[in-house]
Amino acid sequence: MLIRLTYASQIAADRDRSDIEAIVEQSRPANQRRGITGVLAFHDGRIMQILEGPEREVLALYERIRMDDRHHGVVELQRETIDVVQFERWGMTSRPLADVLLMVDGY
Ligand SMILES: Cc1cc2nc3c(=O)[nH]c(=O)nc-3n(C[C@H](O)[C@H](O)[C@H](O)COP(=O)(O)O)c2cc1C
Repeated sequence: MLIRLTYASQIAADRDRSDIEAIVEQSRPANQRRGITGVLAFHDGRIMQILEGPEREVLALYERIRMDDRHHGVVELQRETIDVVQFERWGMTSRPLADVLLMVDGY
């Protein structure tokens, strides 16, 4: 079963954009291996991430992400089953978070 999970959080006080960029670079091959796609938006210290893929993989990853002390205040915004993925790859955008809600693949 495929799911899409969306959460928002706040970057840790001792971290900045370069930490987020490093996470995205490291996550790319790991997500690809697990069949996970999506996007991470970073804007004004706020993070919003959409994760799509096999339920088991997405939920296991989300548990690790929730525990990661490079951000805090993780709030799950949406969890739904999907028939097809909306994002065909994995990446990062610096657009305001509201824009991400309107996005299709093409970031
Ligand atoms: C905001 C944020 C987003 C993250 N997104 C991902 C991701 O999409 N994929 C991933 O593998 N790790 C992601 N991580 C890193 C995970 O929290 C974790 O460090 C990583 O999965 C490696 O875990 P492991 O060393 O136990 O394998 C993210 C971390 C943060 C703070």
